[in-house]
Amino acid sequence: MDANSMKVTRNDGEWIWINGKTMPLADARIGVEDRGFLFADGVYEAMRLYRGRPFGVKEHLERLERSAAAIDLALPCCRDTMAQEIQRLADRSELTDGLVYLQITRGCSVRNHLFPDPSTVPPTLLFYTRPLAPLPAPGEGAGISLLSVPDERWKRCQIKTIALLPNVLAKNKAAAAGADEAVFVEDGHVNECSTSNLFAVVGKTLVTHPLTNKVLPGITRAIVLEIAASVGVGVQERPMREDEAKSADEVFITSSTRELVWVESWDGQRVGKGRCGDVTRRLHQAYVERVREEVLPHVAVA
Ligand code: PDD
Repeated sequence: MDANSMKVTRNDGEWIWINGKTMPLADARIGVEDRGFLFADGVYEAMRLYRGRPFGVKEHLERLERSAAAIDLALPCCRDTMAQEIQRLADRSELTDGLVYLQITRGCSVRNHLFPDPSTVPPTLLFYTRPLAPLPAPGEGAGISLLSVPDERWKRCQIKTIALLPNVLAKNKAAAAGADEAVFVEDGHVNECSTSNLFAVVGKTLVTHPLTNKVLPGITRAIVLEIAASVGVGVQERPMREDEAKSADEVFITSSTRELVWVESWDGQRVGKGRCGDVTRRLHQAYVERVREEVLPHVAVA
């Protein structure tokens, strides 16, 4: 086996597209003065591959456009081109289950808080693939534990910025306490989690925080709300007090990489009946069907 083919077999689905070039992820390099590295001056997206197809790519790229516009960053190519290149990279990776991580920063230039001139400093755009384990079927996976932490983030959490230090610290605080995910609490109300949106089932109603500057407009969140409305589950988008959420019948989190995950305990106390609730399972089942519908046509023609 020559060095090149050895390299290919060692990639294991890890490929990157970086500023128009495709290569094994381990070979990619960015400059030390990239503004993403120096200032966290950039935005990102994370999507899941199912059967080799990125789910919700249109919605993710629309959100990317909104995040980029919110920080005055122009995207170097249109959404359609990006979607095509992402699919090409996914094909190249030969992954069935995986992650596509996409990031755009304001490029590499002499360190200065002021924006560089975009006509001479192009942004750094990259996306890469990595394998992910398939997810458990609805109702079959283990529940997770939550830990409440104060929300010490900035006031523009609707932007999917790469400046994630408060989220990183919160998640590690949760882990140090033996919990899986941190819930950001502010003035006695729950906003969202460090890497996911939060939902509670109160009586027969699904409750989640409204889309304000306190939460990321999750792609999974939006789909779950749509599904709930279509299967006749009542929905309220409103701030929830922490004690109300903790005593809800069911609590679950959502994210593109994890779909819906039911919560078993919160600050050491059992949530609901301590198992995956019926509403959570039904919504998750419908979500999985939605994914299947979107990725199936591709399989049919393959
Ligand atoms: N996180 N809220 C926060 C703070 C998040 O970081 C995420 C996603 C979500 C859920 O968004 P979506 O449903 O669009 O994935 C909510 C990703 C997966 C991450 O940072 O890896």
